Amino acid sequence: MNLAVVGAQWGDEGKGKLIDILSQDVDVTVRYQGGNNAGHTVIVGDKEYVFHLIPSAILRPSKVCVIGNGVVIDPKALLEEIEGLKKRGLPMTDKQLKISANAHVVMPYHRVMDQLRESKRSHKIGTTGRGIGPCYCDKVGRMGVRMVDLLNPRVLKAKLCDNLNEKNDIFAKVYGCKNYDFGEIYKEYCSYGRRLKPYICDTALYLKDVIDRKKKILFEGAQGTFLDIDFGTYPFVTSSNATIGGVCAGTGVPPMHIGKVIAAVNAYTTRVGEGPFPTEFDAKMDETIRSKGNEFGATTGRPRRCGWFDSILVRYALIINGASELAIMKLDVLDDLKELKIATAYKYKGRVYKDYPHDLEVLSHAQPVYETVSGWQSDTRGVRQYSKLPANARRYLQRLETLLNVRIKYISVGSKRDEIIVC
Ligand code: GDP
Ligand code: IMO
Ligand code: MG
Repeated sequence: MNLAVVGAQWGDEGKGKLIDILSQDVDVTVRYQGGNNAGHTVIVGDKEYVFHLIPSAILRPSKVCVIGNGVVIDPKALLEEIEGLKKRGLPMTDKQLKISANAHVVMPYHRVMDQLRESKRSHKIGTTGRGIGPCYCDKVGRMGVRMVDLLNPRVLKAKLCDNLNEKNDIFAKVYGCKNYDFGEIYKEYCSYGRRLKPYICDTALYLKDVIDRKKKILFEGAQGTFLDIDFGTYPFVTSSNATIGGVCAGTGVPPMHIGKVIAAVNAYTTRVGEGPFPTEFDAKMDETIRSKGNEFGATTGRPRRCGWFDSILVRYALIINGASELAIMKLDVLDDLKELKIATAYKYKGRVYKDYPHDLEVLSHAQPVYETVSGWQSDTRGVRQYSKLPANARRYLQRLETLLNVRIKYISVGSKRDEIIVC
């Protein structure tokens, strides 16, 4: 059966580590949305890899990785990633990596626009500044440049002319910035096209063939459910569908082939960037967990905000994603705590909310209702069997299973590949 891994919080749930593990039992791993705003970490032995655009299965040379049409690709960043992996000894052949011809291209003006828009907002989103939002805007606005366009200089020329006509006006008149030079961008992006050409193909047709040959596919989500453009804490979200709905539109694979959905969560909660976060720790606790969990963004290096596990959010995420299994990551980070809290509802203006409220005001000011459970205060890193976990750790996990009505299938107890319990 094919399977999908989606983030069920605000991203950085350890999806990269999980994908790396799960990819050993599949043939093809596909990214379906987002761009190099993502940072997926895989640690094998003493080597650390952070993937931004390339699926986290690339470390397994016999497996194929696909960047689907729903992904927005910064070709400069992608080439740097490819070259970086080649230097580390990976072959990076066109047999191993396939890039959708229909994927949209992040242009230099998208990156600048991302930062300029942020600078003008009174309520900053805290974007990664990678141009992701503006690129998706142009895609929906029907003026985007696609990977296939980089292979056809005439099409690229016409599109770039149209875009710069509009963009240069906006940059000059709205932001008082300098104009973009057509010639420079055209030359630069034609050269990206030439270098990436071997990888570019119709990945939807490729995946159809994979399915026909009864091979297994793993869909790799980036970001998380509460960063999803439709279901997240809008407007403090990213610009794509990080939830399972993004798979079909972002790969061309029909829904009956998605198979099983695994939701990845941290054993607590993290968030990078701005926006509501009801269970956020106070400054002292935030610092404790951040240093123990090394909670710094894999893409921007910004400190991640940390908080207690929020069962209201995750329950909603399981519904939206149709997830039947949960992967709990970073359990070990909680090892030292005397007691832990789990949010089971929110209170706002005398009303109790058991379901995730979409009203930004409620989410921003709600007080979580907590259940307190005892900590285990022992090291879980070396544990490889569920039954060997400390009793209080098992109680914590069982309580989450009950509150969420889902089966915990994976428990991660460290950042390395083998630090995992499969239940
Ligand atoms: P992703 O974006 O969902 O792939 O997650 P990131 O890679 O951005 O962030 C997860 C971080 O936690 C990375 O630094 C991982 O190496 C690390 N990590 C993953 N699983 C565990 C775990 O079980 N324990 C600890 N301590 N770290 C983990
Ligand atoms: P992975 O795949 C965590 C956040 C940004 C910001 C918001 C919008 O590693 O889990 P954007 O640049 O997308 O317009 O920023 O989304 N964000 C992430 N946070 N993990 C990510 O990806 C993220 N990708 C975007 O911090 O709050
Ligand atoms: Mg990440």
